[in-house]
Amino acid sequence: MSKTILITGASSGIGRSTAHLFAAKGYQLILTARREDKLHQVIAEIQARYPVDILPLIFDVQDARQVQEAIQSIPTERFPTIDVLLNNAGLALGMGPIDQGDLNDWDTMIDTNIKGLLYVTKAVVPTMKSQGYGHIIQIGSTAGKVVYQNGNVYCATKHAVDALNQSMRIDLLPYGIKVSAVNPGACETEFSLVRFKGDENRAKSVYDGFQPLGPDDVAQTILYLAELPAHVCINDVTLTCLDQANAIYLQK
Ligand SMILES: NC(=O)c1ccc[n+]([C@@H]2O[C@H](COP(=O)([O-])OP(=O)(O)OC[C@H]3O[C@@H](n4cnc5c(N)ncnc54)[C@H](OP(=O)(O)O)[C@@H]3O)[C@@H](O)[C@H]2O)c1
Repeated sequence: MSKTILITGASSGIGRSTAHLFAAKGYQLILTARREDKLHQVIAEIQARYPVDILPLIFDVQDARQVQEAIQSIPTERFPTIDVLLNNAGLALGMGPIDQGDLNDWDTMIDTNIKGLLYVTKAVVPTMKSQGYGHIIQIGSTAGKVVYQNGNVYCATKHAVDALNQSMRIDLLPYGIKVSAVNPGACETEFSLVRFKGDENRAKSVYDGFQPLGPDDVAQTILYLAELPAHVCINDVTLTCLDQANAIYLQK
């Protein structure tokens, strides 16, 4: 029987690349995002290449009710198991000193990166518990290991992901559920375009002068973790491009 991965934030970037890679390995996909058109575009690209079953679920991870209803709507006859949950949906908004932060930006980052991850996890864990196995993989960040100037609230949300990764692994120990985190450094996706609210030049300049990770690099790491033997759990992986040492030091 094919395995199934549920990926939040599959409409672009790391989530999209991971969907492609797992489809190539024969996984069935449950793909989620808010932008229906973008998600359907990703699904069409994958279905043109791989004969896998794909279920799109359109919801905002910030809305606990939408999350619960969407997860409950998964047809169990088509998707009898959820083998891997990739908690990937997330974002940074703005970058500036703490006293100049935008309250809406703070709320959105906290509600998406922390609360959204919690809502999706809570909705999926009962299925994994009843299976007696499963693997939850969080996308953290180098910003969840070291804080950088003007990164305050985004860094705090990713430190929270790091803490939740550790505590979930303890809580789910009795149920055979693996819990891991993949913490990327600078990776060229829509991330900076979202952070700088559509300012293409500013977004592009983030990646000037060095070769960042691509989303496929991160997807390869996620696949490696997911395909380890059943008794092995990598707790946490931090990966950067060659020119980056951590969230602060970048050789441009
Ligand atoms: N790129 C980097 O340098 C980098 C480094 C470290 C960590 N990360 C982390 O990697 C993860 C993926 O980011 P990315 O780089 O691939 O950026 P991206 O290309 O902007 O992708 C973000 C994804 O998250 C989804 N998303 C955002 N808010 C959502 C919400 N409220 N509800 C549902 N889905 C939502 C977006 O879909 P919709 O807009 O369609 O909903 C999109 O599919 C994030 O957690 C990010 O913090 C990125």
